[in-house]
Parts: sequence; C-alpha cells; structure tokens
Amino acid sequence: MFSVLIFAPLIHAKHNISSSRYELLSGSKRNSPDSKKFWDGQYNSEKYIYGKAPAKFLAQNYDFIPGQSNVLDVGMGEGRNAVFLARKGYLVTGVDISSVAIRKAGVLAREFGVRINTVTASIDDYKAHPESLDAIICFYYVDRSINKKLISWLKPGGILIYEANTDLQMNVRDNIQQSKKYLLRPEELLKMFPGLQILKYEEPLHKKDFTASIILRKPKKNKV
Ligand SMILES: C[S@@+](CC[C@H](N)C(=O)[O-])C[C@H]1O[C@@H](n2cnc3c(N)ncnc32)[C@H](O)[C@@H]1O
Repeated sequence: MFSVLIFAPLIHAKHNISSSRYELLSGSKRNSPDSKKFWDGQYNSEKYIYGKAPAKFLAQNYDFIPGQSNVLDVGMGEGRNAVFLARKGYLVTGVDISSVAIRKAGVLAREFGVRINTVTASIDDYKAHPESLDAIICFYYVDRSINKKLISWLKPGGILIYEANTDLQMNVRDNIQQSKKYLLRPEELLKMFPGLQILKYEEPLHKKDFTASIILRKPKKNKV
C-alpha cells in the first residue's frame, strides 16, 4: 500500500528560459562538456539557486531511511539535501557533474559543521558496488537510462527517494517547447522502478509547479 497526497511545489518556475536552457535545467545533455559548463555557469555565484533548505518531501520523509546509514545523492547540486541528511546523522556521498556545485556543497557542509563525501563526475561514469547502498536520493535529475543501475546499487531493503517535475510543468511555462524527455509523465514514477515496493507517492493535481515524488524500497531477499 502507498499513500497519494497533494502538496505544494518545491522548485519554483523559472521565468523566460529558452528551451535549450530548460533542457539543461531538466538534466539533458548530461555527460557532455556542455552540461558541465552550463551547470558550472548556473552555480557560479554565492547564491544557492535552489536554496540551502532541503526539498520539503525529503525533510518530511527522510526517516524512511534507517538512521546513520549510507546515502547516495544523485545530481546533488549545491548540497541542500545532502547536508540536511548529514545533519541528521547519515553518511552521505553526493555526485554531481558540476565542480562549482560540489565546491558550494562543501561550503554548505562546513557552514553546518557536518561532513559529506563528494564526487565530481557524471553519474554515467560513477560506479558503486552492487547492493552497497542503504539509500539513494535523486531530486530533479531525470535520466531513465540510469534507473536499473540505481536499483542494482541498493542493498536489499534499501530506500530510493525520487522527485522531479512532470511534463504538466510545460503548461505553466509558455515559452518551453522542447521534448518531454527529461520530464516525468504524470504517474510515470509509479512504474519507473519495477520490482521496488512503493511506500509513498505524491503528485500535485493543480499547482503552479507540477512535481511527482516517490519513496520506494528494494525487497529483501527470501531466505531459502
Ligand atoms: C535541477 S539540478 C538539481 C540539483 C539538486 N538535486 C537539488 O534538487 O537541489 C540538476 C543537477 O544535476 C546535475 N547533473 C547534470 N548532469 C549530470 C550528470 N551527468 N551526472 C551528475 N550530475 C549531473 C547538475 O549539475 C545539477 O546540479
């Protein structure tokens, strides 16, 4: 069983952005020098563009992850979620293609007096041992091609927390005419990680920003 709730948007609409910029903001052209350059440019100021506070869905649900366990933050950005989890006692590794984001995440961690492990790399190149992670979080980074890999990295019983915009978001941004490839379809998250158990699901039906959020658990192996 899982619950379906409606909640307020977490990342607010960015106005007047070009389709190519939006494509990058949504995570496309990932494993390319263009992507790194783009994200380094986005983050290249003292301001934390997504803020220092964690995503609301994570703040409300982090305790689905067993205490003091190891967590991978995919597309960590400036560390708002990674640092929050570190403050709660988790051992967090954040991976991001942007070295500027990684540096800012380190600054944020120091600001809060915690440690996080950081890796500057494309998630396409990042390697974790199979069944080595207690949890993975992935916020606003949609790349369906890594889903199987993420599942394989989770320990049996491991937790995946995932949130991103759905393509309904395009209806509230008139100037966006790009492919929907890097946005979720409504309700897509419910079937995007086959084999994992759905513990919680939220998708707003009528909001300024359209997001979908899910918490899943990898089943434990049956004892023979
Ligand atoms: C929309 S931001 C979200 C950041 C963060 N998860 C948050 O919610 O604040 C997407 C992030 O994905 C990162 N990214 C883009 N391509 C990537 C890749 N191939 N591997 C790892 N990170 C990537 C960007 O640098 C950026 O920080």
